[in-house]
Amino acid sequence: MAQAKREQWGSKIGFILAAAGSAIGLGNIWKFPYITGQYGGAAFILIYLICTAIIGLPVLMAEVLIGRTTQKNPVGAFKKLSEGSKFWTAIGGMGVAAGFIILSYYAVVAGWALGYIYQAASGVFYEFSKPEVAGQYFNSLISDTVWNVGYFVLFMALTMGVVYSGVKNGIERGSKIMMPVLFLLLIILVIRGVTLEGASAGIKYFLHPDWSHVTGEAILAAMGQSFFTLSLGMGAMLTYGSYMSRKENLPSSAVSIVTLDTLIALLAGLAIFTGVFATGLSPKAGPGLIFHTLPVVFTKMPGGYAFSILFFVLLTIAALTSSISLLEVITAYFIDEKGWSRHRAVIVFGGLTTLFGLPSAFSYNLMGDFRIFGLNFFDSVDFLAANILLPVGGFFISVFVAYYWGYKKALPALRDGAENLFEKYPWVITGWKILLKYFAPVLIFLVFLNSIGILKLIADIL
Ligand code: PFF
Repeated sequence: MAQAKREQWGSKIGFILAAAGSAIGLGNIWKFPYITGQYGGAAFILIYLICTAIIGLPVLMAEVLIGRTTQKNPVGAFKKLSEGSKFWTAIGGMGVAAGFIILSYYAVVAGWALGYIYQAASGVFYEFSKPEVAGQYFNSLISDTVWNVGYFVLFMALTMGVVYSGVKNGIERGSKIMMPVLFLLLIILVIRGVTLEGASAGIKYFLHPDWSHVTGEAILAAMGQSFFTLSLGMGAMLTYGSYMSRKENLPSSAVSIVTLDTLIALLAGLAIFTGVFATGLSPKAGPGLIFHTLPVVFTKMPGGYAFSILFFVLLTIAALTSSISLLEVITAYFIDEKGWSRHRAVIVFGGLTTLFGLPSAFSYNLMGDFRIFGLNFFDSVDFLAANILLPVGGFFISVFVAYYWGYKKALPALRDGAENLFEKYPWVITGWKILLKYFAPVLIFLVFLNSIGILKLIADIL
């Protein structure tokens, strides 16, 4: 095993921006607005905020803590803390596998975002009179193999380029440049949105909860979303935590990451809904909201041409700071456990992920008829990763820290760098312990049962 000196973040803010970059991604800008639209706006947002506070934050702290304590990748970390248990090592391995799988299709969607920068710049959106026409155009693009695969490969190359350059010189430096640009672009888009004529309907949608839409399903969707958006359950935050110094205050960093992630999701929602309502379109378009509805929104707003380009640049940057964290999990594993060099790990696994992503990219063209349990390849791997591997991973992460490793060992590790917090606000730590031990595993388990359809089956029987 190669034991070259392990890389570390250059600063606390470097870690926070990189981890917030992992969290802030397609989940915030693409998924959050459309599921909020599907589940009725403000009421859903409120539930989402509660879920983020009671499950997201505690699990995030647990993940980062495992990483920081062991200074290892997910496999090495679980192996070390469980003293070689095969079961727990396999849980770490599941995280690495999940990283590989998620990256393979995440980068396909990110490729669409990248391609749309060019489409926006070409002015083609002005040919769309309504979302259906924009939708048809979008479908024709993703069924074009060259377009689809081309941008996917280009996006993978960008991801590999950043990770290839290392933790400090690649990921941290990239995040320090890209995250402020992302904030700036989003602020510009929010200002544009809220100053549109008729924007108030969108703002109202955001602020006035309509409780009639809040079903059990909406609550579970909110939990699932807070989990995915914080990059939890597969060791991405664990791996980023492993480059963190023990001198840093871990709970306060975790709060900053959650706050940034939540803020960006809310701002993205605000920018999108004000535009959608101001132009009289529907917020309920589902996954197509961004590629079908928004192009039409842009053509109807003053300055829409420039804002449409900025929007897709924003989406691409958000996706890139997330995809690098996915590739880093795999890279860290091969560096720590197999003694590979970073460059070799990035080239081999970046390449393999690209190959494995091809069937996802082909899901709308060459492999359009291919089905696994009725789902195309893209939807199947998305289902496997987001609905099975992540909740299962998150469940075991909370169980591991709360029950197996135990608070007796975990608390002193958490205390490093946070002595002040432990003395002045001991209730914060007590709260964390309770949430992680009793709430997180149960709630995550429910999300999991719901994802695989068991809750619905039970409800049907009853
Ligand atoms: N958090 C990312 C998003 O919201 O788009 C997605 C993600 C990234 C999930 C990294 C998991 C992960 F490890």
